[in-house]
Amino acid sequence: MKTLNLSLEHSKLPLYLKISNALRAAIINSHVAPSEQLPSARMLAEQLSVNRHTVMAAYHELGAQGWVKTQQRQGYSVVATLPIHQSLAKSAEQHLSCTQHQWRLSKSNQSTFAQPAHHYPFNFAGGNPDIELFPFNEFRGYINEALSRPSIQELHYGGNSGFAPLIEQVTTYLRRVRSITDKEIIIVNGTQEALYVVAQTLLTTGDKVAVESLGYRPAWSALKSAGAQLIGVNQTDQGIDVSHLETLFKQHKIRLLYLTPLHQYPTTTTLPVAQRMQVYRLAQQYNVPIIEDDYDHEFHYDSQPLAPMAANDPSRLVIYLSSFSKIMFPGSRLGIIAVDKTLATHLVNYRTIVNHKVSVVLQDAVARWMKDGAFERHLRKTTRTYHKRRQCMVVQLNILQTQGIDLTFDIPAGGMALWVNVGHNAEKIAQLAKDNGIYLMAESSFHLDRANNQDKFIRLGFAGQTEEKIIQGLQKLKPFLNPR
Ligand SMILES: Cc1ncc(COP(=O)(O)O)c(C=O)c1O
Repeated sequence: MKTLNLSLEHSKLPLYLKISNALRAAIINSHVAPSEQLPSARMLAEQLSVNRHTVMAAYHELGAQGWVKTQQRQGYSVVATLPIHQSLAKSAEQHLSCTQHQWRLSKSNQSTFAQPAHHYPFNFAGGNPDIELFPFNEFRGYINEALSRPSIQELHYGGNSGFAPLIEQVTTYLRRVRSITDKEIIIVNGTQEALYVVAQTLLTTGDKVAVESLGYRPAWSALKSAGAQLIGVNQTDQGIDVSHLETLFKQHKIRLLYLTPLHQYPTTTTLPVAQRMQVYRLAQQYNVPIIEDDYDHEFHYDSQPLAPMAANDPSRLVIYLSSFSKIMFPGSRLGIIAVDKTLATHLVNYRTIVNHKVSVVLQDAVARWMKDGAFERHLRKTTRTYHKRRQCMVVQLNILQTQGIDLTFDIPAGGMALWVNVGHNAEKIAQLAKDNGIYLMAESSFHLDRANNQDKFIRLGFAGQTEEKIIQGLQKLKPFLNPR
């Protein structure tokens, strides 16, 4: 052990006893654990500006009391079993004079984290990328470069909208691959931070926000944390129901619209061009900004993905969000806001309340990774793999159909999951699956208003696990599905 903070009492006791009392208090209060090494006499003497022999006398005293063990050449350590009666008596004494503080919570988040999906042997969570596919060795090289040739100026506070070389890479990438131009880029710690900052900046208590009626709960939490009242927009099998949206715009003063148009979360349908244009015109007419959450853009298989709504935004009302959580892994905590200049500064300023910036070392490494082209290589590889996994899951589900299992589904053009109609009892199926080591989610988890639950759909993610696992997992799931 290097340093142990000790406070010596003010008394007339000899110095070595004051030191031994302070050491004993540190042991009783668990500042140092049983069997843990204690600082050497020399080190402690230096720290306390006393003679080394005084510290040795203190250790000797503690040895005699049974708190400390001395070993030749290994110095001093706490005994493995503390003189327990004394320590219990002492802690009881302490508890009598000090009751546990009760926190007064002014806000709390009700959402609970159940057992994470990746703890299940078969993981059909809808949005999980396969982290095994990430090129860790290759990326280590870029981290090393970022640390060997750091941009020292950038490591200070400031530059809050993001690391300039990464902004440059992202700007080029979004222009080239997603046709987004004329937007300011802000680098954030994932989409969740973006949603929180946008909500806090644009909304006030009681503001109405339109959201897809089956949707992404973490976004709803961020919106609600800013006081928003959420209003669900009905969905058709092609995404949101535009005529219902229009009715809502007429009936309410809607302040914001949150959408996942490319791969609707959780149903994975793509909102067709005609509907996108209608939604956009309504947003212009009723002066409603749109948050476009484009969380897994690249994973589109049958054709090029549609350009985001942000790519054709003459009124500059689209707040475009993108994430590295699927491209890299959720723990990367890296995301992008692309937005009009007039809003960008406000978002950056607000973000500074919760976080100054995103890790510069990470941003630097990702910028190098993108510049080298290795990022796009990785994307091509994962898209090919996920395409095959989608096919594998489709084949397996078709086999289950031929074996008399009640299920129907559309093959989505992209995304990382299938939205499968199992007829009825979807929630029970999801629970039975979990009890048997298979993670999947039922429709009920995604409804804004749970009263709308038809209990028919389950979401089966295909990207996050190998074809072998998909096949085995679906076989294991078979007995819990409904017969036709
Ligand atoms: C709809 C949606 N948006 C965004 C994200 C990514 O969020 P983050 O960047 O905070 O990890 C996800 C990930 O599951 C998602 O499903």
